[in-house]
Amino acid sequence: MKVVTTVKEVKEQVKLWREQGFSVGLVPSMGYLHEGHASLMKTAKSQMDKVVVSVFVNPLQFGPNEDYDSYPRDLDHDIALCEEQGVDLIFHPAVEEMYGKNYNTYVVMETLGEELCGKSRPIHFRGVCTVVNKLFNIVTPDKAFFGQKDAQQLAIIKRMVKDLNMNLEIVGCPIIREEDGLAKSSRNTYLSAEERKAALILSKTIFLGQDMVKNGERDVKTLLDAMKKNIESEPLAKIDYVEVVDGETMQKVEKIENSVLTAMAVYIGNTRLIDNFIYECE
Ligand code: PAJ
Repeated sequence: MKVVTTVKEVKEQVKLWREQGFSVGLVPSMGYLHEGHASLMKTAKSQMDKVVVSVFVNPLQFGPNEDYDSYPRDLDHDIALCEEQGVDLIFHPAVEEMYGKNYNTYVVMETLGEELCGKSRPIHFRGVCTVVNKLFNIVTPDKAFFGQKDAQQLAIIKRMVKDLNMNLEIVGCPIIREEDGLAKSSRNTYLSAEERKAALILSKTIFLGQDMVKNGERDVKTLLDAMKKNIESEPLAKIDYVEVVDGETMQKVEKIENSVLTAMAVYIGNTRLIDNFIYECE
């Protein structure tokens, strides 16, 4: 496995692979890799000849008061995990390599990027779309792999690929959880022991909502009231949002029909965590 830091090195490697007829998959990440990321790599390995993982904490997707500086980083651990998963190339650029002097071009997702997480993180998806677009241009993958954990991000990337006629397929992969249910996240490391326990309220509430819908509940207000009440029973939790939206447009719905996304962001102390479930009506 190679670890490279420049766009030129990635392009040279991918060109060699193309000459040999290999298909190429990309798993974009911000590092501090865990089993959620590993599951994306596994899926990528099973479908592609060569797999590239990018490890880049993208400053553009963090707001001024967010955790860019404190975001956890551990390249040696990331290299070991990628090696274990049989990854072929890690792209780990410096910020200047991605956003050089006079950098001035951005990709903006309109309404889709303004809902859910976009409300409390107004510049977030502009940063995500811009960096993912750049990574697609650098690696030119046949397929790129994203987690359902970030459901809005996945929907936005799919929209961007469709809208801009990009020449690749986006593969969504299921949420990987800790044994007790908490969705795996690099940000879980911010939690104190007490907060870690309190954070279980997210997955518990997701499972509660999922059960209600499976058992036939179709009224969004009833569902959301029950979910919010459950979260509010945890003193360390503060709701950012809990919403039920159309799985593609991210617009609020009142009745559960077709494919709906139930998504939440909840602060546990100062740490903002997200979780969700998708329900496809038959
Ligand atoms: P990051 O948070 O590192 O996540 C990288 C990928 O791993 C995303 O597609 C995310 O959905 C997936 N992932 C994270 N936790 C997961 C879990 N528990 N189960 C399944 N998949 C999980 O998302 C980003 O980075 C960035 O926004 C990025 C797309 C790299 C752009 O900078």
